Amino acid sequence: MSLIKWDTNYSVKIKIIDNQHQNLVALINQLYDGVSQGKGSESAGKTLDELINYTRTHFAYEEQLFRIHGYPEYLAHKAEHDALTEKVLDFQSQFRAGKATLALPLLSFLKDWLTNHIQGTDKRYSNFLNTKGVF
Ligand SMILES: [Fe+2]
Ligand SMILES: [Fe+2]
Repeated sequence: MSLIKWDTNYSVKIKIIDNQHQNLVALINQLYDGVSQGKGSESAGKTLDELINYTRTHFAYEEQLFRIHGYPEYLAHKAEHDALTEKVLDFQSQFRAGKATLALPLLSFLKDWLTNHIQGTDKRYSNFLNTKGVF
């Protein structure tokens, strides 16, 4: 079963970004499956690494679009990205050091963060970027 089901409400009206968000949803669901089926922590750890790397690539992509087009909310948006990045990198090092376990509370945190961020902060750039010709 999936933790997050993609919904058209999540669309930010920019195709490549919707695709990236769908990939993030898929990685969170994959991590959820691994954790809930009690797969080895090594396999879950690899998925976590993949999720973190992809998240950073995605954030960098959005931020680059903001800079190119002079998005006025760039700094506030980037601050949200940076706060999440710091948090997951911190978790990753705790996990690698054996001081944290991959469990459902982390998954529900990631689900809430991503769905809220997409529907709130990300959707705020849709119209701005659409008017700059980014679809
Ligand atoms: Fe995003
Ligand atoms: Fe974002």
